[in-house]
Amino acid sequence: MFIAANWKMNLDKVSISKFCDDLYNYKFSSKVEACIFPSLPYMDYLNNLIKKLPISVGGQNCHYKSHGAFTGEVSPKFLRDTGCEYVIIGHSERRSINNESDNEIKLRAQSAIDTNLKVILCVGENLSHREKGYALKFVEQQLLKCLPNDFKNLLVAYEPVWSIGTGKIPNVSEINEMHDHIKKVVLKNTNKKVKVLYGGSVNVENIDSILNVINVDGVLVGGASLKVKDFLAIYSAAVKHLNNSI
Ligand code: 13P
Repeated sequence: MFIAANWKMNLDKVSISKFCDDLYNYKFSSKVEACIFPSLPYMDYLNNLIKKLPISVGGQNCHYKSHGAFTGEVSPKFLRDTGCEYVIIGHSERRSINNESDNEIKLRAQSAIDTNLKVILCVGENLSHREKGYALKFVEQQLLKCLPNDFKNLLVAYEPVWSIGTGKIPNVSEINEMHDHIKKVVLKNTNKKVKVLYGGSVNVENIDSILNVINVDGVLVGGASLKVKDFLAIYSAAVKHLNNSI
């Protein structure tokens, strides 16, 4: 079970310090993995604050080249050097705001993997695909265009675009159907098994029903991960879920 906290462009140094104070009073479980994706300038700062805790840090994106004239970009090698274990690739905000294409996302994912980063590859349909009944087909095609050629471990995050930051989520059978489809598509095309995280308006109220979905291997949380109380409540729900399912 994996809990990923995508802070996006939020939480400054003072807020990060307060967030981490509360983490030290919490008893983490060895069964649930957690990773925080802070804003880039605070990567080192956060990493130092949580180095005694079983939480890793990750990058919100990386370029496909390791060096060069790419102003404003970050090298996968530099993320590794600052202690990152994971990187998110292909987030819908990168796709829409920064015009990252499927092909570029594939290159970024491959480069991150080649640099020994663990990749969380994001896919997800928009509302009109869902309403017209094309969600499965759209996500399948997006996935096939973005999948790196060569990987050992890969996490896929299913994040319906219409669910991000809106408070709306697909129903549990839609989530299960999509996660099952993603796992089958990857297996059929690469002969590899992937874990699939759900992302989009995950919060303290809906976490139990999302984790009860059979094909959900964890969650990628945005807004609710900015408050330490909610982050820990989501983490605790994952621990409880695992304990109940043994
Ligand atoms: P919200 O949880 O704020 O909807 O964001 C989801 C997301 O984009 C995580 O990557």
